[in-house]
Amino acid sequence: MKKIVIAIDGHSSSGKSTMAKALAREIGYIYVDSGAMYRAVTLYAMRNGFFRADGSIDEEGLRARMGDVHIEFRLEEGKDAPQTYLNGERVEDEIRTMEVSNRVSPIATLAFVREALVRMQQEMGERKGIVMDGRDIGTTVFPNAELKIFMTASVEVRAFRRHRELAWKGEEHTMEEIRQNVVERDRIDSTRAVSPLRQAPDAKVLDNSDIPMPEQLRIMKEWYDEAAKE
Ligand code: DC
Repeated sequence: MKKIVIAIDGHSSSGKSTMAKALAREIGYIYVDSGAMYRAVTLYAMRNGFFRADGSIDEEGLRARMGDVHIEFRLEEGKDAPQTYLNGERVEDEIRTMEVSNRVSPIATLAFVREALVRMQQEMGERKGIVMDGRDIGTTVFPNAELKIFMTASVEVRAFRRHRELAWKGEEHTMEEIRQNVVERDRIDSTRAVSPLRQAPDAKVLDNSDIPMPEQLRIMKEWYDEAAKE
């Protein structure tokens, strides 16, 4: 088997991260959650006053400070995936709140943010043996990835998953509120000028609305075996 790059793109709450993590564990690859990087920049912008009271972003201010944003992933005992660190601080939980979710899309439309993060992501993939999930991994970050997977599921199924995920963390939101967040994020992610969410022409599509996780993993593993064959 040769070492390859696996790019997984898809809609928010399509189960990308869960399945990317599971696949990486199964085949002994490193897992990188590129969405966590956009979330970490969003948290940085919130904490440093780059969101104005009306919700708009002080782009010039943030651009000038991008060099001070250091994001790393560290493996930790007892955790099933690498944990996100922002300037040396573990922010894995802080970046998953609804507040960050509601503010991350406009941050992810900023070209200077994308350029900085794409560069970091490409460096992480240089040695291969990596599974990265996001929105532009198979199109912009690794257009030559040996295996590209595009994951999706219906809006209803994705809103249900998100609701359950937030409820586990003790965050109560109505289904309608979450449904709107899912739809709005799809809209912004797919229509933005820079690196919109697009399916790479050579991506394999996995619509998992009705497919249980073990079966999804089996399908992905089969695709991996085929792509990594010498
Ligand atoms: O996958 P996620 O929900 O954690 O992603 C958070 C946000 O970051 C989402 O609005 C899309 C954006 N994103 C992106 O633009 N490009 C990526 N490669 C990953 C995420």
